[in-house]
Amino acid sequence: MYFILFFYTGFAYLALFNFHGTFLPERLSGNNPPKVVITKPVKLNWNSIVPFSIRVNDPEDGNSEYDEISTKEVLLMVNFLPNPSDAKKYLDQGLDKIPEPLMQMSKSTCLICHASKSILIGPSFDLIANRYQRNPGQVDALAQKVITGSQGTWGELIMPPHPDVKIEEMRKIIGWILDNGANPNQSFYVGTEGAFQTREKPKEQGGVYILTGGYTDHGIKIVPNSNMQGKHTLVLTPF
Ligand code: HEC
Repeated sequence: MYFILFFYTGFAYLALFNFHGTFLPERLSGNNPPKVVITKPVKLNWNSIVPFSIRVNDPEDGNSEYDEISTKEVLLMVNFLPNPSDAKKYLDQGLDKIPEPLMQMSKSTCLICHASKSILIGPSFDLIANRYQRNPGQVDALAQKVITGSQGTWGELIMPPHPDVKIEEMRKIIGWILDNGANPNQSFYVGTEGAFQTREKPKEQGGVYILTGGYTDHGIKIVPNSNMQGKHTLVLTPF
């Protein structure tokens, strides 16, 4: 009798233990989103060089204060809205986040060689967007080219092949570059520290800057696609 009772409770205990011990905690605790804070700037002047600083703290990946976060994966989007009253609509539509294709480029090597508006090793995204028409054939051709590597189109420097990025993902990335690269009101910067330039004060209405700092964490290995983006947005009116 006791044996049978023990037998059953033992099994129940084992089942519970298994359930709690190996299955539940990872499920329940899941992945935690990163916390992103733009600590600088707190205010803006027109026509000046503005240093920025971003702090990232992720329960799984670590803390940028202790160099545990890969700084090339931390991004700052700088958007200028000529009409300050558009800011509310912008935020309501949830546009204040790092676009997925841009985030993906930060996880690959693209942003080591390419910047939004300035030439690094490769051409800037505004030069690329101004050179090509946005149509499916063009997007596909460029996507193939980035995957296989390129030399001689812009100069003698070599772009190495990128076989790690899938063609569908690469098409989305190229589409994003062609759609957004030449937008004079939008640029992005890589790293936890850096600087950007504000424009001269426009003659008519002032305009407002929307800064979004963002980081997508690496998620939990055993749960595919558990990555989460953390962001911090500031709306700043220069003076
Ligand atoms: C090691 C530096 C480097 C890396 C990394 C790199 N590129 Fe490039 N990229 C270049 C250079 C250099 C060129 C110009 C090549 C040429 O002249 O043919 C270029 C050209 C391009 C072009 C224009 C191609 C054309 O035919 O006009 C696109 C689009 C592009 N890169 C996107 C990307 C993307 C997306 C990634 C990441 C998946 C990436 N690059 C990674 C250096 C790089």
